[in-house]
Formats: sequence, structure tokens, C-alpha cells
Amino acid sequence: MKNVNQENKEIWNTNAGEWDKAMGEFGNDWHLQLIAPETERLLNLKEGQFLLDAGCGNGIFSRRMANKGVKVTAFDFSETNIELSKKYSSDNIDYHVLDMTFEADLIQLTDKKYHGIVSNMVFMDVPEVETFFSKINYLMKDDGHFVFSIQHPCFNSEFMEVTNEENILMKGYIDASTSKGKAVSEQKEDQFYFHRPISYYINLGAKNGLVVDACIEPTFEKEVGGPFTKFPPILIISMRKLTNN
Ligand SMILES: C[S@@+](CC[C@H](N)C(=O)[O-])C[C@H]1O[C@@H](n2cnc3c(N)ncnc32)[C@H](O)[C@@H]1O
Repeated sequence: MKNVNQENKEIWNTNAGEWDKAMGEFGNDWHLQLIAPETERLLNLKEGQFLLDAGCGNGIFSRRMANKGVKVTAFDFSETNIELSKKYSSDNIDYHVLDMTFEADLIQLTDKKYHGIVSNMVFMDVPEVETFFSKINYLMKDDGHFVFSIQHPCFNSEFMEVTNEENILMKGYIDASTSKGKAVSEQKEDQFYFHRPISYYINLGAKNGLVVDACIEPTFEKEVGGPFTKFPPILIISMRKLTNN
């Protein structure tokens, strides 16, 4: 029987073309309005510093940072996503096909320590994130920032129903669960979603010597967001290493 990670990868390879069309060179409204500006601010990287982009998709955030002179190492487990990333400018970006659930893959990244580690909208797509969290301390400089975004587990999950233009009904939260759905309406196959409550991520960070130093819940500014003008559809968390001083 195929394991869930193998199936997950095949689905991402199948859908990679539609994902690339939806994101384009610079990202969709969700990325450009909600995710990228805050993530960039929290990472606070300077020209010449090193960024690791984990689960880079078609490379939208890697390009944004590379265009500012940051030296980016980007990886994704989907070979097709990495191929599609390379059709855009790759200046300052070093792409790899790696799986964040495989320790042996992550060890290949330990030739340097990164000033920032980012993972945008990835962890709710990954069946287990413990392996990746356990490597952050080895991969990141002592004063670095690990910034990740996920679908907001409280307001944007398989348990959410939009009841009218402005309100939502949540039918679950605290139990971890697995479901399938679409990230972009055109994609050929439904993909996996792995729901986990917020405490799971904070406690996993703490177990691995990481503490939260910022938490952002962005909403859409204009009326385009429906309920997402008052309920944040995305959660962005910044973690840093716990030090003794
Ligand atoms: C929702 S997309 C986000 C892509 C990109 N970070 C962005 O913001 O556009 C999730 C990405 O995670 C990747 N992914 C899922 N599981 C992974 C794994 N185990 N290792 C590496 N990448 C993975 C998928 O291939 C996909 O590119």
C-alpha cells in the first residue's frame, strides 16, 4: 500500500501546473496581500544573508527575497514544482527536490546556517512536521527567525462553513484530522489537508528549543474577502531559538 506521503507527493506533482498558473510569477492576492509582506518583515533579512524556503511551490517567495539580494536555498518534494520554478529567474536561488519528512534529505541542507527559515502555507499539507521542526536548531543561526504560515486552524479549515457573506460556522477545532480538498479550483486532484490546533505547533516548537516571538492574523482590507475581512484566514508565526540570556 502506498504511504500517505508518497500519495501526497504524486498529487502535488499532478496539480503543479494548475498551482503555477494560479500563483504566477509573483503570487496571488492571498500571498501578496496577507502572507508575503508580514513574512518578509518578520524575517528581517539583509542583502547577502541566507534564507531557506521549505516547500517553495513555484518559488514565489524565494524570488521576492532573491530580488532583494538575499541568497535563497529553496526546496520542495514535488519535482514538477521545482521544474516550474526554474522557468522564472533563478538568480540568487539554489533549488532542490527534498522531502521535509525525510531526515536524510534535510541533512543535505546543513552545509550552512541560515539567517532565516520560511515555510509558507506548507505544514497543513504535510502528514508529519516533527522531523522538520527537529532540524530547525541545526539549520538556523542563533539569532535567526523561523517564520511559517498555515491556514488559520480556528477560522479556515475543513470544519468551516461560510453561513452568509460575513459569517462562518466552525464545526471542529481541537482534534487533529485529515481531509481532502482543493487549494485552487482548477486543480485536477483533491489534495490532503492535515488539520492541527495552534497549541500543537507552539508546543512542538518548545520541544525543539523554539519560542514564539510574533503571531500575525492578517485579514483582507477591502470587501473582497467576505468573512475574511473580520476572520483571519491565515496564521503567521515567527519563532526564534530559546537562549539562556
Ligand atoms: C500550498 S503550497 C505552498 C507553496 C509555496 N510555499 C507558496 O507559498 O506558494 C504547499 C507546498 O508544500 C509542498 N510540500 C508538501 N509536502 C512536502 C514535503 N513533505 N516536503 C517538501 N515540500 C512539501 C508542496 O509540493 C507545495 O509546493
